[in-house]
Amino acid sequence: MTDLAGQIAYWNTAGAAKVFTHPLDRSWLGGVDRGARVVDYGCGYGRLTAELADAGFSNVTGVDVSQALIGRARQQNPALHFYALTDPPTLHEPTDSVDVVLLFAVLTCVPSDDDQRRLIDELARVLRPGGLLYISDSGQLRPGSRTHVDSRHDERQSSAGDADSRSAQGE
Ligand SMILES: C[S@@+](CC[C@H](N)C(=O)[O-])C[C@H]1O[C@@H](n2cnc3c(N)ncnc32)[C@H](O)[C@@H]1O
Repeated sequence: MTDLAGQIAYWNTAGAAKVFTHPLDRSWLGGVDRGARVVDYGCGYGRLTAELADAGFSNVTGVDVSQALIGRARQQNPALHFYALTDPPTLHEPTDSVDVVLLFAVLTCVPSDDDQRRLIDELARVLRPGGLLYISDSGQLRPGSRTHVDSRHDERQSSAGDADSRSAQGE
């Protein structure tokens, strides 16, 4: 990834002390089985990984490029599973093995379009057919813009003006 060393250095130092607040709309996961395999990509200190566990999801893994944030996540949530990415965006998960990926406030931290595409391609690789990619980030979607994994998808704006995009294959 472009300037990955600089990115990692930031998230291992000043970025590792931040508090993240980007809200999860649980209703988007309403129809998902609580035993579903879920990956929280760019989980930070595991804020949403823990929220999903609190909501009853029993098979959630948080992954992040920052060893420092993964350390913080493990300290705050010792019962949950986290790992640090050694070659982002490559995940340990086999192809077609994941039911849901959460990508919250991460895409805006990946500066280049090519790296964003590589990241989405990797998430599409691990997602099983029919799986769900729940992307939410700050900023407005341009009219007519599309966030994609598959041709069938649904986009909407949250009341906070943040962009939520839910993509599902076979929905
Ligand atoms: C704004 S924080 C959001 C954290 C978490 N998703 C949340 O909402 O609480 C962005 C996170 O993305 C991680 N990140 C940035 N670039 C990444 C990359 N290329 N691969 C994986 N994680 C990345 C950072 O380390 C940081 O934890």
